[in-house]
Formats: sequence, structure tokens, C-alpha cells
Amino acid sequence: MSGRARGAGAQCSASRSLLAAATLIVSVAAGPAVGAGDGPALAAAGKAIYREGLLPTGGQLEGHRASGANLEGRAAACENCHRRSGLGYVEGDILIPPITEKYLYRRGATNARDLTMTHLVGVAPRTGAYDDASLARLIRTGVRPDGRTLNPVMPRYALDTASMSALLDYLKTLGNRPPRGVSATTLDFATIVTPDADPVTKDAMLTVLRRFFAGQNRLIAAEIRPMHASREIMYRVTRRWRLHVWQLSGPAQDWDRELRDHLAAQPVFAVISGLGGRDWAPVHRFCERERVPCLLPNIDLPVVAERDFYPVYYSRGVLLEADLIAARLVAPGVSRPRRLVEIYRRGDIGGAAAAALARQATKSGIVVERQELPATPAGSDGGAERLRAIVAGIGRHEALVLWLRGRDLATLRGAPPTPQVYFSGLMGGLETAPLPARWRAAALETYPMDTPELRRVRMDFPLGWLHVQNIPVTAERVQTDTYYSCVILAEALGHMLDSFVPEYLVERLEMTLSTRVVNGYYPRLGLAPGQRFASKGGYLVHRSDAAPGGVVAASAWLTP
Ligand code: HEC
Repeated sequence: MSGRARGAGAQCSASRSLLAAATLIVSVAAGPAVGAGDGPALAAAGKAIYREGLLPTGGQLEGHRASGANLEGRAAACENCHRRSGLGYVEGDILIPPITEKYLYRRGATNARDLTMTHLVGVAPRTGAYDDASLARLIRTGVRPDGRTLNPVMPRYALDTASMSALLDYLKTLGNRPPRGVSATTLDFATIVTPDADPVTKDAMLTVLRRFFAGQNRLIAAEIRPMHASREIMYRVTRRWRLHVWQLSGPAQDWDRELRDHLAAQPVFAVISGLGGRDWAPVHRFCERERVPCLLPNIDLPVVAERDFYPVYYSRGVLLEADLIAARLVAPGVSRPRRLVEIYRRGDIGGAAAAALARQATKSGIVVERQELPATPAGSDGGAERLRAIVAGIGRHEALVLWLRGRDLATLRGAPPTPQVYFSGLMGGLETAPLPARWRAAALETYPMDTPELRRVRMDFPLGWLHVQNIPVTAERVQTDTYYSCVILAEALGHMLDSFVPEYLVERLEMTLSTRVVNGYYPRLGLAPGQRFASKGGYLVHRSDAAPGGVVAASAWLTP
């Protein structure tokens, strides 16, 4: 076996230098293409083919099928099917096999068990390994070394020698990065808290995380070891989960350095949950740049960058609320306001939501005015006078949007100036938003999750867990979402078995999120490959103490 492996390796490097020579010839002919010996450029060229469907010549990758259903450019990219990790997945009844070096070239396999694709149910290991030449032939013709022709779903690619060489080099990098935060006995995770996160909510979140981790470790310790210690089973039962709290302390521009220091001192496999305030962007950029999977259920102002891969959010938060209002303003049967006034406090997340709504409303021809209250509720009445003065200046045919916390909403007086008042449920406190009675009848609250009445049945389980754990319910939404994100992480990891590849964790999180039935606050969560916000809609509701749960839905579930 080892002799054969060495033989294949020698053959491999011989054909590689042939390919490298060919690369030189083609690059001379094609101008800006990659040069021989240019390692990083070659890998980058292969990555562009795999991920974007872009050829080194600048042309589009073309995938051919006998049926004529050809694919081009991004649609032809290998990543679409084999995924970023190269570890494949199951789509309906089609098994998309792993195509990392470990599986194709059988690198380092000493026995057949090492290649068993435990993470993809139903995929049997192939007999015989590929080398560069037979892999190139497969990609061009669809014929495997054993003579079998691949399912026509897999396109054929007439790649030139240089492109093929770059692509094969890139395939060899897949799954080869040593995993961070994974030791023989422990899986390390971090949670990230920014200095401006609400302290009560932070404590509530940390308690849920710590209890869940402790429970998980008790479960692992109690599990009966199987008699045969095959590698994947051993990993599964013996690794303890360890939580690290990365509390950021300085100004936002220092967070990146703080996070890098934390990661260097304590490598982690993933970030689970976290809590922010007005600026999450430095954390988002850190996750993406350092390629750390981050499952983030509690961020009310996330970064919208759906081309990014590693940070995964539950919802677009206040930005989704802005979209719900924008859609309502131009809905049929709703009289278009002459002017829209938005009020927010400086330094809170409402400023970004107000800007997002202003952009959309302006496009619809509505005049928008944004009014900023001072950051710290200054003066003896905390700026309430100023708020009331702005409100007093609004006419009956205008609309008002309040991006304010409950303490500001509670200071409103009299009757609302217009029938068109909107406020943010996430910021105002959802069903506990302390809006004065006369405002409640008119004001529409954005509610980007199921109403209390609709989610009641699904809340039995998380609330029951908190109860059994003796954890007081102090921040129900964050506690529930944090609990479920732990459940989702455990489920995703359970499916991965020994494939500790960060990209594969993200793909598994996508799948687990999409197939869960019980999600606490959300009617449905789902992440198609490439989507980064699991819940995509919400309601407009009225606050009403008389209604069960404190709110009445004033719209259907909207997905703007
Ligand atoms: C539209 C989906 C799709 C795309 C795009 C795609 N593949 Fe595949 N690929 C498949 C499927 C499905 C199979 C399994 C077919 C079978 O088993 O008959 C497969 C099989 C393979 C295999 C054989 C693995 C083995 O175990 O024998 C390799 C290698 C491969 N693909 C590489 C690539 C590369 C490289 C690209 C991009 C240039 C690519 N594929 C693009 C769907 C796709």
C-alpha cells in the first residue's frame, strides 16, 4: 500500500512538472496568464476557476453537458456543487462527492477506514486513486479511472493546460489547512462581546452559553465508548467543548487588534453567538479575514455583505425593519406621505436603519428628513422636550418613524400627529414597547419574528430548558436565540464527525439552519448557499395590552 502510494506520488510530481512546462508555453502565448514557478499566482488562478468560474485568460469558464444544458462563468464554478470546502453535499438524490486531495489522491490513507466518507451518508469510497493526468481527463471527459462515466449533472470542462494545472493545484489546497482550536481532547470556541453591549443582556447570554457547554460536556463524558475505536467515532465522543469570552475593551478601531491578539493566544474553531452595540463591522471583518466561522444570532445591526462567507446571522435586524417600513410606505391602498420624518439617537443603531430607509423612500419620491437626538439623553428630561418638539412639527399627511429605545418612546405625550407612525420593535422592546396608550392604536411596530401568540408553542422547549437550569428569564429573545444557536452548532458538528474544516462547518450550519423545524422566535430559518441571513421577513403589528401576547398582527408575514 505505502509502496503504491509513493509510486503515485512520483508520477504525480512528474506530470506536474510537465504541466508547469506547458503553463509557461501557454502563458507566453496568452499574455497576462500565470507564469511557471509563480506558486501563489497559480493558486489564485485555480481559486478563481473553482470559486468564480473565471479563467486565467480573463474568459468565462464553460461547463458542457450532452443535454445541451451548458453552464457558463459563475454558474459553471465547481464551488456551486462541490461547495467552498470541496467536501461536497447531498442535493435531493444526487450525491456530490468530496473532491479534496485526501479523497481524490488518497493522501496519507493507511487503511480504507480513513477514507470512509462518514460525513456524507451514502457515499462509498472510490476504489483507486486519481493522479493529475487521470483527474484532468475526468474533468475534460467525465470518464473516471475505473472506466465509469460520471452522472451528466457534472459538466465537462474543456480547459487548456495552464488552466487545468492551476485548478488541480487549487484542489490540492482544499481541506489542508490545519484546523484551529481542535486538539485531541478539546474543541475551543469563542464568543465576542463589544464594550457597548447591554450588560444585563450580556450576562443572560453568557449564562446560557456556559450552561449549554457544561451540559454538552456532561453528555460527552456520559456517552458509552464504542468497542472499536475508529478515528471518527473516537473524535466524536472524547472532545470537550471549551468556551472563551472575548470581551473587547477599547474604541472600535482597536477591536481588530484585540481580536487578533485573542485568536493568537487562544485559537478557536468557531465563534458562537456574541453581543454588540452600534458597530459590529470590525468583528465581521475579523471573522471573514481570519476565516473563522461565526454563528451570530443576536446582532441587531449586522454587516450586509452576502459575498462574505464566514459570518452567519439570524436576521438583518434593524435593516430588515427599514425594509418592512419602506415596503409599507408604497403598498397599494396606503396613502403616500408627503414627507417622512425619522428620529434616532446619535450613536445608536437607529442611525444606520434611518439612513437605509431614507435611501429607499427617496427612491420612491418621498421627501425624507432625519432628526438626530443627542447621544446621551442630556438635560433634566433626557431630551424628551426636543423629541416632542420634532413630533409637534409633523403634519397629518406626513409619516413618522421612531428608531428609539423604550425609554424614549415612554416620553411621548398627547395624540400622535399623523395616522402614519412606525417604530422599531427590536429597539423599542417588541411586545413590551412602552408606548403611551393614545399612540398604540395608530403606531405600527416592525416585528421581524413570529408574534408571541404564534411562537408560543415553539417556546415551550427553550423556556423549559431555562427553567430546569434555574436561569431567570431576563432577556428572553437573546437567551432563546443563543440557546438555539448552541443546539444548531451541536447538530452541525455532529454531522461533520472528523472533518474539522472551518468552511465545512459553515456549510453544515447552512444545512442545519435550513432543516430545523423548531426555531424559537422565528417561523422559519433558511440559508441557501451564499445567503447569510437566516430569517428573511417580519410582521407589522400594533401594541395592545388587551391582545394575547401584547401585539396584534396588522399585516401578513412580509419578506421585503
Ligand atoms: C452542477 C454541479 C457540478 C459542478 C458545477 C461541478 N461538479 Fe463535479 N461532480 C458533480 C457530481 C454530481 C458528481 C458525481 C457524479 C457521479 O458520481 O456520477 C461530480 C463528480 C466530480 C468528480 C469525481 C469525484 C470522484 O470521486 O470520482 C470530480 C473530480 C469533480 N466532480 C470535479 C469538479 C470540478 C473540478 C469542477 C469545476 C471545474 C466541478 N466538479 C464542477 C457535480 C458538479
